Amino acid sequence: MTRILVTGGAGYIGSHTCVELLNAGYDVVVLDNLSNSSVEALQRVEALTAKKLTFIEGDIRDAACLDQVFASHLIDAVIHFAGLKAVGESQQIPLAYFENNVTGSLSLVQAMQRAGVYRLVFSSSATVYGEMNPSPYQETMPTGMPSNNYGYTKLVVEQMLEKAALADEKWSIALLRYFNPVGAHQSGQIGEDPQGIPNNLMPYLTQVAVGRRPLLSIFGNDYPTQDGTCERDFIHVVDLAKAHVLAIQNRLNNVGCRAWNIGTGNAISVQQIKDTFEQVNGVEIPFEYAPRRAGDLASFYADPSRAQQELGWHAELTLEDMLRDSWNWQKQNPKGYQS
Ligand code: NAD
Ligand code: UFG
Repeated sequence: MTRILVTGGAGYIGSHTCVELLNAGYDVVVLDNLSNSSVEALQRVEALTAKKLTFIEGDIRDAACLDQVFASHLIDAVIHFAGLKAVGESQQIPLAYFENNVTGSLSLVQAMQRAGVYRLVFSSSATVYGEMNPSPYQETMPTGMPSNNYGYTKLVVEQMLEKAALADEKWSIALLRYFNPVGAHQSGQIGEDPQGIPNNLMPYLTQVAVGRRPLLSIFGNDYPTQDGTCERDFIHVVDLAKAHVLAIQNRLNNVGCRAWNIGTGNAISVQQIKDTFEQVNGVEIPFEYAPRRAGDLASFYADPSRAQQELGWHAELTLEDMLRDSWNWQKQNPKGYQS
């Protein structure tokens, strides 16, 4: 059976990907230091799939730990989610971001090389396109300069992986450039569980809906968009998780380093998200218009056609599905995995 090491597998996107991998018949080994997640998520993954996975609590920066993982489990490929992801925090503590995301990724690929495992799927981000490219973003566009340190770490790791693959043709690497992941598993058993005050729109909105926060601030309503609020390409986390299974299948049969956009191709505004959430779920969201947030781009969205052509992937779930499932998760778990 093909065995996949999933770093950061207890996290938001990782836990949903574990479900899809187990359902597709893969063996799953998760390595996570639990710095932003809970083992409860993995217990729920096992309950949802009625399958077992192996969990190792450990850090990707720990070379001895990685060597031990590769020595004791015959790993065929790695999906690498582990890292820090808060844009604002990355401006305050940049070195922690470089250490976790860049040094951590280097440590992982070095351990893979030592173990003779050369197939890797890396969690990248649309942020690598920077401000200079017009939407829809296409993989053939040159990458730009991300507006924050978090995004910069993703760009550095992408470039490091490209160079490694150029130098040694044994590597087979997928760079998956996610747009804006939202939603949760349809069961409401697993979902996004941010610590502290959420930075991202959807967890903030659902915490307002459940009464944990008084109102949603919409950052800016004077952008050059249809309704003046920012537009993003929101993608259901289950569709995103399925893209990883297809990327693994692709990487098991190909070499080189290849980037794929994982988005729907639709630009949806912040205002539309709030209004549609209210309609779909029958919940009112108190809100205010607030000043623009530093570093936000007015609008960006994917051209997902390369993923369709080469991976056979396209987003299947609708905006309504994303908003219903986000709410279903939050409603059932008002305090996340602690409730
Ligand atoms: P998450 O924080 O829920 O998951 C990351 C997981 O990695 C957590 O379980 C955390 O405990 C673990 N981790 C962090 N540092 C580690 C380390 N040094 N060693 C071992 N484990 C470690 O985040 P997520 O939203 O699931 O994101 C997963 C990946 O996708 C990240 O690399 C993130 O940068 C990337 N990404 C996320 C988004 C998004 O909006 N959520 C967008 C683009 C890219
Ligand atoms: N927003 C609000 N109110 C909130 C939170 C967000 O109006 O309380 C708005 C933002 O201003 C933005 C939109 O909702 O216009 C989406 O914001 P998110 O923080 O949810 O997502 P971003 O598009 O800012 O962030 C994403 C990824 C990051 C990536 C970044 C690059 O989550 O991983 O794009 O721009 F680095």
